[in-house]
Amino acid sequence: MDLKNNKMKILLIHGPNLHLLGKREPDIYGSATLSTINSELKKISIKNNITLTSFQSNSEGDIVEKITKTKYDLLIINPAAYTHTSVAIRDALLSIKKPSIEVHLSNIHKREDFRKKSLISDIVIGTISGFGKLSYELALTAAISYLKNNKSKRETKS
Ligand code: DQA
Repeated sequence: MDLKNNKMKILLIHGPNLHLLGKREPDIYGSATLSTINSELKKISIKNNITLTSFQSNSEGDIVEKITKTKYDLLIINPAAYTHTSVAIRDALLSIKKPSIEVHLSNIHKREDFRKKSLISDIVIGTISGFGKLSYELALTAAISYLKNNKSKRETKS
């Protein structure tokens, strides 16, 4: 929660090579650039009174730092290639005790065998995979709905 303005905060992390979206294998990942995706998500967040911060890094250590040292209510993450290899990112997610959602542009289960295994799928709320840039919009919609639901549950309890 952003205490200054009472808004819920979502952190969106894009892993390695996603800075190349638009140019990178467009037949698999689509033609939208990362900045287009980020700005469309920002608009949806503003409409829903949510603060969205986007971060892209090609470095596993920087992603771990961002996950563990930033304040937010919910994390949306496309760990990209680290999905399939990074115990460090899995451990970071386990350490934060915040709800998180996994996103992929492509359907990782329809691709090479090494992409079928995600090291985080079993510790996130859910995974959205295979809808191109719409995957991100679906993840954000799910995140907003989750936060609103949980907020009203917290309010009913108190
Ligand atoms: C990806 C799928 C990964 O296997 C791949 O390494 C990526 C992108 C996706 O969004 O479809 O970089 O996470």
